Amino acid sequence: MAKTKRYTSCFLCVFLSIAATLAALLEVEAAAPAVYIFGDSTLDVGTNDFIPECLARADVYFNGIDFPYSEPTGRFSNGLNTADEIVRLLGMERSPPPFLYLLNNPPTFKRNILLGANFASGGSGILNTTGQHQYNRVISLEEQIQQFSTIRSNITNMTGSDAVTDSILSKAFFLISIGSNDIFEYLLNLITRPMSMPEFNATLISTYENHLKTLYDLGGRTFGILSVPPVGCTPFSRAVFTSNNSCFPRAERFARKFHVEVAALLKKFSSEVQDIRYSVGNTHRITTTMMEDMLAFGFRNISGACCGNGTYPCNQTASFCANRDHYLFWDRFHPSQRASKIAALTLFGASESLVSPMNFSQLLGVNI
Ligand SMILES: *[C@@H]1O[C@H](CO)[C@@H](O)[C@H](O)[C@H]1NC(C)=O
Ligand SMILES: *[C@@H]1O[C@H](CO)[C@@H](O)[C@H](O)[C@H]1NC(C)=O
Ligand SMILES: *[C@@H]1O[C@H](CO)[C@@H](O)[C@H](O)[C@H]1NC(C)=O
Ligand SMILES: *[C@@H]1O[C@H](CO)[C@@H](O)[C@H](O)[C@H]1NC(C)=O
Ligand SMILES: *[C@@H]1O[C@H](CO)[C@@H](O)[C@H](O)[C@H]1NC(C)=O
Ligand SMILES: *[C@@H]1O[C@H](CO)[C@@H](O)[C@H](O)[C@H]1NC(C)=O
Ligand SMILES: *[C@@H]1O[C@H](CO)[C@@H](O)[C@H](O)[C@H]1NC(C)=O
Ligand SMILES: *[C@@H]1O[C@H](CO)[C@@H](O)[C@H](O)[C@H]1NC(C)=O
Ligand SMILES: *[C@@H]1O[C@H](CO)[C@@H](O)[C@H](O)[C@H]1NC(C)=O
Repeated sequence: MAKTKRYTSCFLCVFLSIAATLAALLEVEAAAPAVYIFGDSTLDVGTNDFIPECLARADVYFNGIDFPYSEPTGRFSNGLNTADEIVRLLGMERSPPPFLYLLNNPPTFKRNILLGANFASGGSGILNTTGQHQYNRVISLEEQIQQFSTIRSNITNMTGSDAVTDSILSKAFFLISIGSNDIFEYLLNLITRPMSMPEFNATLISTYENHLKTLYDLGGRTFGILSVPPVGCTPFSRAVFTSNNSCFPRAERFARKFHVEVAALLKKFSSEVQDIRYSVGNTHRITTTMMEDMLAFGFRNISGACCGNGTYPCNQTASFCANRDHYLFWDRFHPSQRASKIAALTLFGASESLVSPMNFSQLLGVNI
């Protein structure tokens, strides 16, 4: 009896130690992957603050009013933005810092780049030229990817082998949100060379494809892609392109088609290369769903900016709304923190009509 008991307790102790090992392993498995973030102001967490000559900035109050210490960080939001809200669902506190911040902090650079980095720059686009004239200087997607390639070489310098770097990066999450500024510039006739709509859109998609190929060659294997939101329904578009404050149909058509093309591009691209996994979020439909059923989502105003208006940016002298949680738009272009949070939850939990071919939970193996 005593023997059996000892056996049992010993069995139990072996079982417990296996369970503990498993739990430790699972914890490692469940730890957030490294996250590398590319794109425009929807994901910028302060990149442009490091470019003195850049005019696309959110480094002034009321931006950041709901951020800890009401600090304007360069996020185009009252608080967190979409990059933050997405990685929070992976268990991180907020987005990894801007690459340019990491670069300025050499002692922690090596440790930090293994956790991730944010390259997104407000005002930038798929095309190199986008934003460079209007905002003086922004970091194009191409240059963002060049910055990532520096990180890759730094990681290889640590691991001593490209194969080990590949294996590390194959587990990382690559989040991209880009395209709105290219479309705005086209509609405002700001592009350097006149192009027909079909020519412009073909250029946009083939350039995007090249960028994705480069990221793949640099080791990216898991991609979350956000197509463009309803750019025709922003307070800016309503004020600048229409006279009756409704959405601008031409921009809306462009945004919807852009999503279809990006989804097709990823489908094609993923069939041509090995080991790639991806989700494309239909940011346009996710946002218009909030607009069409605003009360269900707790919004009272889906057409105006909480801070500033269609033509006036957000700063401390701009007009300012009474309740920012009631607003879909924080400023003339960008969602409020609440809208970003709803969008992130949707990306992780929605069905194929909003995020395909799988949602972010499936892509990244998390339960929310
Ligand atoms: C875009 O800019 C990068 C530098 O940031 C440059 O290396 C590249 O050649 C440019 N690409 C095109 C298509 O102009
Ligand atoms: C590689 O790391 C060493 C030691 O940290 C450093 O001195 C060297 O500059 C690095 N080289 C590159 C190309 O990153
Ligand atoms: C990172 O890599 C770049 C390009 O190879 C190099 O110039 C830089 O010194 C490296 N930084 C560190 C900290 O290794
Ligand atoms: C707004 O004006 C456009 C023409 O500029 C028109 O096509 C559209 O129907 C109008 N919308 C509303 C809601 O009145
Ligand atoms: C872009 O071009 C493709 C093929 O030429 C076409 O199917 C698509 O509708 C176009 N998209 C836009 C936004 O015009
Ligand atoms: C939405 O908010 C804007 C800016 O505060 C305001 O001008 C507009 O009248 C509001 N619209 C509605 C429908 O409440
Ligand atoms: C806010 O922005 C407007 C328009 O760009 C500018 O005229 C105004 O001086 C700015 N206010 C502050 C406090 O910077
Ligand atoms: C936008 O806000 C600015 C500053 O508050 C104001 O001067 C301007 O008239 C407003 N424009 C509209 C269309 O309300
Ligand atoms: C989203 O992904 C999760 C997997 O984590 C899955 O259980 C769920 O059914 C998906 N949602 C929809 C609506 O497809």
